[in-house]
Amino acid sequence: MAVQNNESKILVFGGTGYIGSYIVKASINLGHPTYVFSRPNSHKTEMLNQLQSMGAIIVKGTMDEHDRLVSLLREVDVVISALAYPQVLDQLKIVEAIKVAGNIKRFLPSDFGVEEDRVSVLPPFEAFLEKKRKIRRAVEAANIPYTFVSANCYGAYFVNFLLRPYEQTEAIITVYGSGETKAVLVSEEDIGVFTIKAATDPRACNRVVIYRPAANLISQLELISLWEKKTGRSLNKVHVPEEEMVSLSESLPHPENIPISILHSVFVKGVTANFEVGEDDVEASALYPDLKVTTIDELLNIFQCNPPKPVNAAFA
Ligand SMILES: NC(=O)c1ccc[n+]([C@@H]2O[C@H](COP(=O)([O-])OP(=O)(O)OC[C@H]3O[C@@H](n4cnc5c(N)ncnc54)[C@H](OP(=O)(O)O)[C@@H]3O)[C@@H](O)[C@H]2O)c1
Repeated sequence: MAVQNNESKILVFGGTGYIGSYIVKASINLGHPTYVFSRPNSHKTEMLNQLQSMGAIIVKGTMDEHDRLVSLLREVDVVISALAYPQVLDQLKIVEAIKVAGNIKRFLPSDFGVEEDRVSVLPPFEAFLEKKRKIRRAVEAANIPYTFVSANCYGAYFVNFLLRPYEQTEAIITVYGSGETKAVLVSEEDIGVFTIKAATDPRACNRVVIYRPAANLISQLELISLWEKKTGRSLNKVHVPEEEMVSLSESLPHPENIPISILHSVFVKGVTANFEVGEDDVEASALYPDLKVTTIDELLNIFQCNPPKPVNAAFA
């Protein structure tokens, strides 16, 4: 007799992607029947094979196949989108399909960054966030049960970008602004687990969940100093003053003006850590106190022992 699995069935759009693959792996590891929607012409063959071998059900299709999307949605309970930034507005097609399907218990759109409804940032990043906010408003208007996630900075992704640990030669480390502003860096594995936990947690329904564990706040100068202690190396630092960052955000063409604007918001303005997590907010590590969070110190140990491959950090 087939074993009945009562765990929520979770469908992930963008599940072969950078953060999506961590979310899919967490979903499988937590025992959820997990579906990955992937384009027919996806070149992520290796990742698709890996996820399939772990137990993911791969569904091939495009966002324009409305009827197909609706029937797929009717097979699952929870929908998580981890689509990349250029595909953010495509999520309106997911919203339309969820409305028709009528059975989805929770939708998490592809936010996974700063708390977009609480920040005011430089215009290129503001335009970027405005598209994500548009999806949040469409979800609310459609009365779809949601969880909006503010995952803050992807830990390994930002360590890689800021410290460039993979470089063999003596790297020059760029420090944005004074380097003293605190930022929140959360390991990708923890983001995966928090996301699946929140997606199926009634306490996170129709709430914003902020991933801000206390051990994951650090300034750039503290991060550099921690890395120097671990490696015994002294790094050459070059500061980019705030005015230069603002001016670059005005002069660089789109979309190159976006990363500098994001760096300004995170490392100069401190938007990941500069507001209180109030009573109405849900903070992930407080919601799941029994989950052991990867500290930044532990994250750097991983880099020291086995540096992950550099990612092409475009922040988008
Ligand atoms: N907080 C942070 O530090 C941070 C950093 C980076 C990104 N983000 C955010 O994280 C979210 C996910 O971004 P990501 O970088 O993880 O995504 P990604 O790896 O670039 O892409 C995710 C997936 O999207 C799918 N996709 C669908 N249509 C596509 C198209 N036309 N072109 C290319 N790929 C397409 C691909 O899957 P298939 O090939 O299988 O179809 C791809 O694997 C975004 O909201 C982004 O803004 C946050």
